[in-house]
Parts: sequence; structure tokens; C-alpha cells
Amino acid sequence: MNLIEVIKERKSIRSFIDKQVSIEDVLEILEAARWAPSASNLQPWEFWAVTGEKRQELVGKLLEALQKSGTTYSPSGGLSEKYAERLNKLISDILPFIEKAGIIDPNWIMKGSLSFYGAPVVIIVLFDKGSHSNKINVGIAIQNILLSAYDKGLGACSLNIPLRFESIIRETLDVPKNLKISNTIALGYIDEDNPLNNFKSSRAPIDEISKLIGFDER
Ligand SMILES: Cc1cc2nc3c(=O)[nH]c(=O)nc-3n(C[C@H](O)[C@H](O)[C@H](O)COP(=O)(O)O)c2cc1C
Repeated sequence: MNLIEVIKERKSIRSFIDKQVSIEDVLEILEAARWAPSASNLQPWEFWAVTGEKRQELVGKLLEALQKSGTTYSPSGGLSEKYAERLNKLISDILPFIEKAGIIDPNWIMKGSLSFYGAPVVIIVLFDKGSHSNKINVGIAIQNILLSAYDKGLGACSLNIPLRFESIIRETLDVPKNLKISNTIALGYIDEDNPLNNFKSSRAPIDEISKLIGFDER
């Protein structure tokens, strides 16, 4: 598969089978992150792969915090009309797949995200506050992780909902003060039987997101 195919075919996976990802595969995926470009080559990131009992402990604490806080999924706050419309499109497009998967819990997206959708491995993406251009640096590395997971036949989903309980992740994993958690990634083998994983999101047309300047001079 060539790169553009990998880029276009990768998608978020939200249901995983109970099969461990080998440490070799995890390291190869982190190797892709390692080779991401960063401003001034500062490489201000760390990638922590968490599995087994520690992952269980983290999920248990996150779900407990969710229950105690009573937080429900309310994503549209602060979005301008254009982005609220795109969010609504995502929700209406994915809904039939959620129904087909037999999911009836209205807070499923919160619970699913906080349990990393059952993935056996969770990658915590961190950056050092002493660096700069951090969000861009880690964003590029995250895409490398997602693409290389797909390239290996594994499923992944970038997750920011767990950051709503960032202090729990910090405490559980003993994250030092200089590191900020930027994102978490669920990683595992795809549950091919779950209709949810058949969902493929759309994209806005190219003319909506691009401007070609000076090309007609040629
Ligand atoms: C920074 C970031 C945070 C995300 N957080 C979540 C999340 O918390 N829960 C979730 O189910 N999906 C999450 N997603 C997945 C997006 O919903 C998904 O990437 C988007 O709908 C496009 O679909 P695709 O990844 O299948 O192409 C996140 C994606 C990104 C890039």
C-alpha cells in the first residue's frame, strides 16, 4: 500500500479484540513517532505505552471519576456555526453505525473514550513545557503513530476526552511536572465484527479548505 492510500484509508477504530499487541510492534510504532520532524529538532516529546495492570488501574480510575463527576458528552460548546455543522454531520453519519452496534448508552462516547475503547495498549503522548511549538510537534508525531498502526494492520484512535481527567492520568502514571499530556491513543487489534468499525468519516471538499494562489500565471 502506498502512502496516500494509507493516509486516506486510515480511520479511527472504536472497538478492539482481546489480543495483546507485541512489544516489537509497539516499539516499531513509536519508532515512527521518533522520526517525526520537530521545530529545531528539539524532539520535545515522550510516548508512554501502557498495558496490563497499569492500564486497568487507569481505566478504573477514569471511569470512577466520570461517574462521580456526572460529566456527559457535550462537544459543541465554543464551536462556531461552521464547525458545529461539521460536528453535527459526524454525529448523524456515525449514528446508524452506533445503532447497528447495539449501543444505547447516551454517554457511550465518554465511557468508551475513558476506557480506550477496550484497546490493550494506551499510548500517552507528552511534551516538555520547556520547549516550543509543542502542539505542532506532537501533532505530527501522533499522525505517524496512527498511520504506522494502520500500516501494520492494527487499529488506533486518538483520544482527547481522557484529558478531561488529566490529573488522574498524571497521578496514576506519576508524570513529572515538566511534562504536559497532549493526547492519548488507543492501540490494538481491530474488532472486525463490530459494525462501528465500518464507519468511515467524510471530509470537506478540497475547494473549501484550500486556496491556490498564483498558479494561473504559469
Ligand atoms: C486530537 C484528537 C482528539 C480526539 N479525541 C477523540 C475522543 O476523545 N474520542 C473519540 O471517540 N474520538 C476522538 N478523536 C477521533 C476523531 O473523532 C476522528 O479522528 C474524526 O472523527 C475523523 O475520523 P477518522 O479518524 O476516522 O478519520 C480524536 C481525534 C483527534 C485528532
